[in-house]
Amino acid sequence: MSLYVCGDVHQDIDLGKLTSARFAAKGLSKNDYVLICGDCGAVWDGRGTDRYLQKWYEKKPWTTLFIDGNHENFDLLESYPVSEWNGGNVHRITPSLLHLMRGQVYTLDGRRLFTMGGASSHDKRYRKEGISWWERELPCAEEYAEARRNLAAAGNRTDYIFPHCAGSRLQDIISPEKEKNHLTDFLDTLESISFGAWYFGHYHKDLTADEKHTALFENVICLW
Ligand SMILES: [Fe+2]
Repeated sequence: MSLYVCGDVHQDIDLGKLTSARFAAKGLSKNDYVLICGDCGAVWDGRGTDRYLQKWYEKKPWTTLFIDGNHENFDLLESYPVSEWNGGNVHRITPSLLHLMRGQVYTLDGRRLFTMGGASSHDKRYRKEGISWWERELPCAEEYAEARRNLAAAGNRTDYIFPHCAGSRLQDIISPEKEKNHLTDFLDTLESISFGAWYFGHYHKDLTADEKHTALFENVICLW
């Protein structure tokens, strides 16, 4: 079993990094995973584009996981039933396309993964609520509470943290023009728990911020 991780794909706009050719020599199966760190966009219009993308992912020789970014259709996403997967909650979009929900701790191949999607859209004033922007792009109080509960149950220890964005202090360094908010402040508090590595999208850049924090966009990294 392998886990690959990458940044935003925005429907098919930045999907090129996941073409089969890049994985051809790796001998993957549906027991291998590719995790998209938000802005997947495969649940967006509920129509033809979604159907095309969901079939595209289904045909890949791996299982695709994604956390939510700020560009997902949250009304549609939340219309899928919640099921349990490796110790946490997911929305199963198709048999091998799974949304990893906020505040969850999963155990995959003996490693712990903590997920906390969401981000604030800097361009929301140009977007239309319920069509191209959703208030649910940022977590609610219950999701923060669930995150804290699940992390506490894991002894505040995880191997990986997968949010869409960075915590406030790191964001100030790598992308100071972005606004801080209750999510980036929450993520900042996670710096004090025990974790091995933190991968995130959102900033549309590939950057090793330090030995533990990596921003992803075009790079696809094999974690194991
Ligand atoms: Fe994005």
